[in-house]
Amino acid sequence: MKIDIITIFPEIAEGPLSESIMKRARESGLVEIRCHDLRDYTTDRHRQVDDEPYGGGPGMVMKPEPFFAAVEALKTDKTRVLMMTPQGKPFQQEIAGSFAEEEHLIILCGHYEGVDHRVIEALVDDEISIGDYVLTNGTIAAVIIVDAVVRLLPGVLGDDTSSVEESFSGDEGLLEAPQYTRPADFNGMKVPGVLLSGHHRKIAEWRKAQSVDRTREIRPDLLD
Ligand code: ADE
Repeated sequence: MKIDIITIFPEIAEGPLSESIMKRARESGLVEIRCHDLRDYTTDRHRQVDDEPYGGGPGMVMKPEPFFAAVEALKTDKTRVLMMTPQGKPFQQEIAGSFAEEEHLIILCGHYEGVDHRVIEALVDDEISIGDYVLTNGTIAAVIIVDAVVRLLPGVLGDDTSSVEESFSGDEGLLEAPQYTRPADFNGMKVPGVLLSGHHRKIAEWRKAQSVDRTREIRPDLLD
């Protein structure tokens, strides 16, 4: 898979995507990630990427020309183009799964008050939000999308089953049961006895009940 991130802050994307599992996925060729500076697609002396909004109002709006030039330069006939924006569709595990099946993603990152709407109308397949809050720029949001997508690619996680049994992607869409490791007694806080019992059916039942209880308490919306 190939991912091109287009942003005025390529270093913000490059940092977290150059560590740990993302670093290994890139080094082993399972994903090719390139972080482009939007200003490289400007043609004026000042490398200007924003301008005042038509109709007035606070802040600046990102100009269309650099985005059009960047997408034109990078797009193939197999590309899905995403725009990071708090006005987008809420990102979820299921969407990560569908992005992971694409050959090529281009991720456009907004900044300032927004992006000229012609970019969205003409270039963008999906507007994506990572949640109902506003960040200073979309690059941090793009990193989150890339991490969630790349870890689903075959071979990226050491154990291919480890993305199956986790919250949101298990059969029933419940939160995971609590996990414990040694010591069995830490400062008087004991690991639930059933997990030490070696009784697999009882452990499975306990985990299922814990999943339901935790989901009801923390994310009742998932049970609807
Ligand atoms: N840019 C600013 N806030 C954002 C959000 N919540 N999701 C995606 N992009 C953003």
